[in-house]
Amino acid sequence: MEKRYLKNNTKCIHAGKYIDEKSKAVNTPIYASTAHLIQNNPENAKYPRCFNTITQLAVSEKICALEGGEKGLVLSSGMAAITTALFTFLKQGDHAIFQDGLYGGTQHFINSELENYGIEKEIISSNDPTDYANAVKENTKLIFIESPTNPLLDIIDLRSIAKLASEHNILTIIDNTFATPINQNPLGLGIDIVIHSGTKYLNGHSDVLCGAVVTSEKLMARILPRAMNHGGVLDINACYLLERGLKTLGIRIERQNQNAQVLADYLNKHPKVKMVYYPSLPDHPGHEIAKAQMHGFGGMLSFELACDGKTARKFVDELKIITSAVSLGGVESITCFPAETSHAELTPEQLQSQGISDSLIRLSVGIEDVEDLIMDVESALSIIS
Ligand SMILES: Cc1ncc(COP(=O)(O)O)c(C=O)c1O
Repeated sequence: MEKRYLKNNTKCIHAGKYIDEKSKAVNTPIYASTAHLIQNNPENAKYPRCFNTITQLAVSEKICALEGGEKGLVLSSGMAAITTALFTFLKQGDHAIFQDGLYGGTQHFINSELENYGIEKEIISSNDPTDYANAVKENTKLIFIESPTNPLLDIIDLRSIAKLASEHNILTIIDNTFATPINQNPLGLGIDIVIHSGTKYLNGHSDVLCGAVVTSEKLMARILPRAMNHGGVLDINACYLLERGLKTLGIRIERQNQNAQVLADYLNKHPKVKMVYYPSLPDHPGHEIAKAQMHGFGGMLSFELACDGKTARKFVDELKIITSAVSLGGVESITCFPAETSHAELTPEQLQSQGISDSLIRLSVGIEDVEDLIMDVESALSIIS
């Protein structure tokens, strides 16, 4: 049976697994060793910063299989994955195009670092591929996008971006954290490199910081040496936890998609809610594109209440099951105000121009029973006027 034809839940459990011949353990062992015997064969000379130990390779292969790529790499954080990929392909004198409204840490990185290296950037405040095509210059080397975006769930047409990039011989990189490989496989739509903050859905239990890059063998051959220089490897114990978390990715996402849909519909009809951002809603501007390129709409949604920021905070404080915390993508439902968490590094002007108000609430929907989540939201809404 050809492995690439296996379905997602099977891949989650079996792809990349390594059976230790001596112990016959069904789980990939944690080989807690930074030194490996050479025994006259340089191939044996493994060293974790070279991303080549068994535990690292096993989990990389699983993520790679889920994204439908040729090579995967796990790193110490999502930001390590993003910065390593960008610095692999950008050098002094190059130009790169970025979508506006990316994850706040990515925006902070490109705004504060690229100039120091003589790299030009253009930020596009729209999701219209024509605007990206118009921004292409002779020295443009890559386009970096996110879809759905954090926190406003903007959708960009991946096929169109991939097509225009290949016409101009430009690389495309997507941060696929919000979608997960269960809901969206950008490589199959022509995007060159997929990045994840594995801290979120891939691990799924809010207990590991990690990142991943998946791409072709050819591009990985350029990324790997850079990643080794930067040293942002994932610790072996964290690799094990990530691999364990990934085994349930498919069923977690299925449940999170369902729960988020129920909550989005509930909030969308509620008179105290001004706006819901969730791509399955027919009036979401990216709904048709999301339908055409995603297998599910995901577990993330954002909303604004019809009240001021102070009252919105009262609502969040009143929630009993849904936890107010930074991060997302875990089994537990988590809420936060992006303006003061994920996007805190943005200036007030940037927040305003991107539509991130101080009353915007982001909700990462967990796998709890949805009736309990609705009850929690309903009771918190009932105390605000
Ligand atoms: C969409 C997205 N990309 C990247 C990151 C950065 O990931 P990490 O915190 O694992 O470095 C985050 C973190 O919240 C994120 O939400």
